[in-house]
Amino acid sequence: MPDAKGQGFDYHDTLIIAHAVFASMATLITAPAAILVARYFRSRAWWFKAHIVLQTLTVAFTIIFFTLSAVAVASGGHGTQFVGPKKDPHHDLGLSVVILLWVEAIFGIAAHYTHTEHSETHGAFPTIKAKKSPLRHLHAWYGIFVAGLLYAGMKTGIDEWNMVADSGTLVPSGIQIAFWVIFSLEIAAYVIGWTLEAFRGKSNLRMISDHSTDEEKDGSPSI
Ligand code: HEM
Ligand code: HEM
Repeated sequence: MPDAKGQGFDYHDTLIIAHAVFASMATLITAPAAILVARYFRSRAWWFKAHIVLQTLTVAFTIIFFTLSAVAVASGGHGTQFVGPKKDPHHDLGLSVVILLWVEAIFGIAAHYTHTEHSETHGAFPTIKAKKSPLRHLHAWYGIFVAGLLYAGMKTGIDEWNMVADSGTLVPSGIQIAFWVIFSLEIAAYVIGWTLEAFRGKSNLRMISDHSTDEEKDGSPSI
């Protein structure tokens, strides 16, 4: 194992650092920001544009960080490490997360082109109770699952660096603490968003207009 101490990081480690930076931006910034926009600002006309711009960046980051990791792993002369004696949970989980996230983006685009019939909702959680295309419900729940997998990918990535970095270095503890703090704040913000909906939903009657189509529904105040 080449030791890069004193001479900076070698080719493999440099690629993995770039991999980790793009993975962190997708996991801790763009994906959660897009989801929180959908949770808190659905009544604003700009929410959908913000959701799609942020999630397009998330998808772009996954393409970049996946390519960087594959090139880094291949630089060791082992091809990919999804099967065989060198496979490990971070590689398998990482590949699955990337594929599941691309599928989620396709669900999102498909959900945008659904037609919603007239629907009135009473009581808490209008998002759940609203009669809308199952594809919209699927996109929302599956999206939460994918976001959870992204966090898991990051956590196992940190452990992976500690095991395989050519430099023999560990991920600085400040970065590990920052990961857990940001993770906790984002989950808390999302749960609070649902709690607020429960209180507001009880006091309001919500309605989705009869002929709302993709642009009309996603571009105007709705559930
Ligand atoms: C959502 C976040 C992440 C995903 C989906 C992900 C995905 C992947 C994938 C698919 C591979 C295997 C590539 C191959 O076998 O060809 C890989 C390798 C790797 N990743 Fe990640 N990664 C993520 C975050 C991170 C982070 C934050 C770090 C470091 C702090 C990291 C460090 C590594 C390392 C060290 C390797 C292995 C390199 C080797 O075995 O030579 N990853 N990652
Ligand atoms: C880039 C393509 C995407 C499009 C066009 C899109 C579209 C949408 C639409 C139309 C909704 C509203 C669904 C409803 O009526 O309830 C929505 C909500 C949501 N999206 Fe996306 N989406 C995309 C990507 C993603 C990705 C990649 C994720 C996950 C990482 C995601 C996670 C979510 C979640 C969790 C919600 C529900 C938020 C809430 O209400 O709490 N989306 N998206």
